[in-house]
Amino acid sequence: MEFKHVVENRRAVNFFDPDKQVPDSMLKQMIEMAALSPSSFNLQPWNILVVKTPDDKARLRKLAFDQPKVTEAPVVLILLADRLGWQGNHPTFEKNFSEMQKAGSITPDKREWLENVTQNLYGASDSQQMAFACKNTGFFSMSLMLAAKSLGLDTHPMDGFDHEAVRAAFNIPDQYWIPVLLAVGYFNTTMTMGPKKWRKTYDEIVVQF
Ligand SMILES: Cc1cc2nc3c(=O)[nH]c(=O)nc-3n(C[C@H](O)[C@H](O)[C@H](O)COP(=O)(O)O)c2cc1C
Repeated sequence: MEFKHVVENRRAVNFFDPDKQVPDSMLKQMIEMAALSPSSFNLQPWNILVVKTPDDKARLRKLAFDQPKVTEAPVVLILLADRLGWQGNHPTFEKNFSEMQKAGSITPDKREWLENVTQNLYGASDSQQMAFACKNTGFFSMSLMLAAKSLGLDTHPMDGFDHEAVRAAFNIPDQYWIPVLLAVGYFNTTMTMGPKKWRKTYDEIVVQF
């Protein structure tokens, strides 16, 4: 599917066909495509909790303002932004450091330097940790939506949910913030898609100070 078509036709789909499942292989493909997203120092501070069973979706729906798409969509992804993903000794930090050495882009003596840089840029305060986690997971989330569309799937991002209640109900460790839930499935073609939403123009977006 041409990229322009993907971008122009992705919509936050309100009605999912509850009888049309998303094969695991397709979900995997979508996640692997999104995994190619860029991230700060390639630290990839994101994880996904896949919610698929009717029971789990019903529990989640109750905590997400009773939005019907949570149970109608065959799959709902809980996006997890890892606020500690910049930290030395974090498994992804360690893997990143090791992969960079294998690729010849860093030498072992730069370890302390890298830990200091990431600490200063992303770890020095709660708000920096949150920004680090959420901006990177935001890029990843957008890639998931575009990857899904390119595979013929529809999605709906949601931040209308009780953050702490979802954390508790799904045993999500404290280091994660949940920027968004993402319903994934197929548009219910018996329903009518609302008209495309307005967007800011080029001139409204580009500013000068
Ligand atoms: C981070 C985020 C959170 C959102 N949360 C909700 C939500 O909880 N419920 C909802 O109905 N729509 C939600 N939306 C969908 C937006 O309303 C929708 O993307 C926007 O109106 C533009 O429509 P479009 O995606 O079809 O172009 C959310 C979108 C984003 C990006």
